[in-house]
Amino acid sequence: MNKNLRKAVIAGNWKMNKTPAEAKALIEEMKPLVADAGCEVVLCVPFVDLSAALAAAEGSNIKIGAENCHWAESGAYTGEVSTGMLKEMGVEYVVIGHSERRTYFGETDQTVNLRTLAALKAGLKPIVCVGETLEQRNLGYTETLLKYQTKMALTNVSAEDLKNVIIAYEPVWAIGTGVTATDDQADEGNGFVRAAIAEAYGEEVAESVTIQYGGSMNAGNADALVAKYHVDGGLIGGASLKAADFATIVKAASK
Ligand code: PGA
Repeated sequence: MNKNLRKAVIAGNWKMNKTPAEAKALIEEMKPLVADAGCEVVLCVPFVDLSAALAAAEGSNIKIGAENCHWAESGAYTGEVSTGMLKEMGVEYVVIGHSERRTYFGETDQTVNLRTLAALKAGLKPIVCVGETLEQRNLGYTETLLKYQTKMALTNVSAEDLKNVIIAYEPVWAIGTGVTATDDQADEGNGFVRAAIAEAYGEEVAESVTIQYGGSMNAGNADALVAKYHVDGGLIGGASLKAADFATIVKAASK
């Protein structure tokens, strides 16, 4: 983390967990615990929880995000949610291209790019996920893959718009598995993402982009992970469902 160069952001990704009432209760519990955070605090929640989450977080330092968005402004896309709908509610962030969406819901590098462009156009801040599978890592493709995914996701994103983009490096083999990348693996992966941005936008721009690590980040390992140069915070799944654990991670990134 280098706070002189870029913003540290800890974002929870609740995935398909918590009803609206449970969301309200969890945010009420978290609010006092993260009130003095020295980093940006975001909770990305299921669509149906957004209203309750926004109300619960109002007046606090917790920002609310969605977990996906469609790229069209409106139209015949049953079951989808547009960026304009999210923006009007007061949502600030949106997770795009999570590996679970790539694996289970046919998300591709092209659709990740379309969603990213749509989010930026609407004034939302995309948290764009990239990451290699264990097979790709073992074959030695990690750097190539991360650079490819990063550049594809950012196609036609201007340097000005890039200021509102967060990239989350999430090795697929570390998500929800309890297997965390080592500090050095996280730093290396984030470094590959930053290098890809440097190749496309130049060194100075790349140094200003917030790049999170995600994948079994928890209260016990957050300190060491965010101490790494390229790790500007985290995208937190399981540990963001427990107020105390999430607050401990926020504290680690507040130093
Ligand atoms: P995890 O999930 O922290 O439960 O591994 C991270 C993520 O999928 O964003």
